[in-house]
Amino acid sequence: MKTTLHTASPSQIETECLVVPVLDALQNNNGDKSDKHDPRLQTADKAVIAAAADLIASGEVTGKMLEMTLLHKPAGLKAKRLLLLGGGKAKSFSSYELRRLAGAAVRNLKSKDLKSFAFLAPKLAKSGMDDAVKSIVEGAFVGNFDPDYYKSDRKEQKIEELAIVAPAQPNRRPLTTAMEQGRIIGEAQNFTRDLVNEPANRMTPTILAERARKMCEETGLKCEIYGPEKIKALKMGAFWSVSQGSEEEPRLIVLRHEPDRAPKGRVLGLVGKGITFDSGGISLKPGDGMEKMKYDMAGGAAMIGAMRAIAQLKPNVRVIGIVCASENMPSGKAQKPGDVQIAMNGKSIEIINTDAEGRLVLADGLHYARQLGCTHLIDAATLTGACVVALGMVNVGVFSNNDGFYKSFSKSLQKSGEKMWRLPVDEEYREMIKSNIADIVNSAGRWGGAVTAAMFLKEFVSDAPWIHLDIAGVAWMEDNKPWIAKGPSGVPVRSLVEFVRDMAGSSDR
Ligand code: BES
Ligand code: MN
Ligand code: ZN
Repeated sequence: MKTTLHTASPSQIETECLVVPVLDALQNNNGDKSDKHDPRLQTADKAVIAAAADLIASGEVTGKMLEMTLLHKPAGLKAKRLLLLGGGKAKSFSSYELRRLAGAAVRNLKSKDLKSFAFLAPKLAKSGMDDAVKSIVEGAFVGNFDPDYYKSDRKEQKIEELAIVAPAQPNRRPLTTAMEQGRIIGEAQNFTRDLVNEPANRMTPTILAERARKMCEETGLKCEIYGPEKIKALKMGAFWSVSQGSEEEPRLIVLRHEPDRAPKGRVLGLVGKGITFDSGGISLKPGDGMEKMKYDMAGGAAMIGAMRAIAQLKPNVRVIGIVCASENMPSGKAQKPGDVQIAMNGKSIEIINTDAEGRLVLADGLHYARQLGCTHLIDAATLTGACVVALGMVNVGVFSNNDGFYKSFSKSLQKSGEKMWRLPVDEEYREMIKSNIADIVNSAGRWGGAVTAAMFLKEFVSDAPWIHLDIAGVAWMEDNKPWIAKGPSGVPVRSLVEFVRDMAGSSDR
């Protein structure tokens, strides 16, 4: 999708459709229950206001979030259509809502077979026009992606050109930069969605590694890919224990963004769970719903997508992406409940349940990240069903051993618009992962399952500030939303990218 910036008056824009956000300016209306509204077009253009006047006067247009009213041949406008797009309350209107509006506009108009449109950038309550432009582009790219490409009757409906209409600026540069950043971040999220969408027969550890290598060749990242020999030589006993049962070879994928001028003291490690299929292993999962376990590599795919954006945005900070890619399969060679494995850091693990495999591959991935010099760690994993029970399909579960690190990470959530909720990892839970015969168990049973999984990971980060993102509930969406297709969500790519940009911004260059 091509994006262009226009500062002409909206009524003069020649386009298939001009999209104008409408916000509700009514202040005290007893919450959302009242049917009173004060809809305001987000433009001062007299012709646009006149064209929409009757619709607004009739009360049909209220400004409710995602309300769409389409008008053909609007009088006085060069646009062929005018789409009034509700954005909810003006007071709370932020990049979060705007991203959704842009995605919804794309999805609605492409379903009508339109190939291009213009979107009028509204003012945000708490940030600048550059932020508005970036959010529109991000949302539009995300909305333009549909993962139904294995349907032979798929319709190629895509928006090819998006014109953003902004007020005239003394300097266009900040807005064109914002447009470029939005494109990079939106494309990175879609890149991840694409990887996650592939079924397991088309996305083995080997294929995932090849896709990462290709991306690195295109973006200039350094890329190392290792197979079973290196994994065994590194004594990654926890990682290998998961891989040993499969005919498909595992891959350890290492991606490096190491700008020459970046401060040496801080290196961020992004460690992702890349289980390309999780059958459960000998502790086999029930057949119902097992097909979903092709998305068990979503954490790893998010790290590869985030590294792609980081390579293009070039923040001045060192980042190493590590993906532990493997299948989890039952076979004559598979590990068994009761087996004891020695992780790379020397800790012994009693395998209670071979279906708790994510923490095993991450254990060695996290320790390896420390060995490569990472001072700060973030991991992402579709780790536990318990996290889905706790937070549903809305929030990512966040765990951290360091309040300061968590606080700076949570600031980037405001920018990304991805929802996350913190859960505890205090020492009182340590009891639950003790083993009778080894240092720790890989499964502590039902209670607090998301927490005990995080407690397990914590054993492998030593003293590094660390954040664990359990994305089991949000990595795959069961239903279409007006602004995004169902299927892989690409969460938490945007948050990781925003965090890395903040990290670079706050370093003494
Ligand atoms: N990949 C699953 C977790 C999962 C569940 C992801 C639902 C997405 C949706 C993970 O490997 C797993 O099987 N976890 C077990 C852990 C248990 C055996 C301690 C679980 O959550 O049941
Ligand atoms: Mn599992
Ligand atoms: Zn799994």
